Amino acid sequence: MTDELNYRDYLELASLLSLQKPRTAESTAQASSVLSEQFFIIAHQASELWLKQIIADLEAVIDAFTTSDDTSNAEWIADLLQRAGELMRVLHTQLTALDRLPLRDFARFRQFLGTASGAQSEQFHRLARLVGHGKHDGPLYESFAAWVTRSGSTVPELARQGVEAGVHYRIIEALLDFGNGYWRWQVSHVSVITKVMGNQAGTAGTSGAEYLLSRCTLPFAELRELRSQVHVGLTVATS
Ligand code: HEM
Repeated sequence: MTDELNYRDYLELASLLSLQKPRTAESTAQASSVLSEQFFIIAHQASELWLKQIIADLEAVIDAFTTSDDTSNAEWIADLLQRAGELMRVLHTQLTALDRLPLRDFARFRQFLGTASGAQSEQFHRLARLVGHGKHDGPLYESFAAWVTRSGSTVPELARQGVEAGVHYRIIEALLDFGNGYWRWQVSHVSVITKVMGNQAGTAGTSGAEYLLSRCTLPFAELRELRSQVHVGLTVATS
């Protein structure tokens, strides 16, 4: 007879829940700092887990854009992009929760981070490569534009058609929602930092909030430019 699989084993909870190890020494005087450090660790670990899912979803989308020459899997692509956008909202919430990290506790346990910093997040850099920086689109947008061209249309044409472009338009909307979520996450990161450490330098040696603000990226410039063209066109047509 085989053992029934249970919740704890399926999710490997024994391993997962043993991975939060605050470095603040356990003592009554430091109880608040230990609790806050655990909160800080969980927020980062949970963010890394969601980043894993977002990257996997986007890589599946890029693969589909690159390898398919028809629109048979377009609905699935739209679903994955919408999910990635929803997960950016989850990441954003993980960050805004850190607004509740007490300044006093963070100041106490921050020394234990040493030179460890989110700047070393390999998954974040992988995501940033997929999305692109500022004016340089990454493989996500490039593969989308090439897929549209192979389907015999153009991105400006689809943007102009709006809802009449069906699933193509749903994909454009999902890309914009994802891009805005990506931007919102970066801005809320800066906002949390100013709250919990003011203008202090980062543990990786950057200037902190000011540096991160200069790195905030709103992706998919072409889609936003087309948005404004369609807006102007509709305004002229109805005036
Ligand atoms: C109290 C909360 C947080 C503080 C005070 C904080 C602080 C910082 C600072 C100062 C930097 C700049 C690099 C440096 O000099 O260290 C940075 C970078 C970064 N942090 Fe955070 N962070 C917080 C939460 C998070 C969370 C929850 C994540 C989720 C994974 C995260 C991910 C990142 C990433 C990916 C970068 C590099 C961003 C880039 O290069 O554009 N941070 N963080």
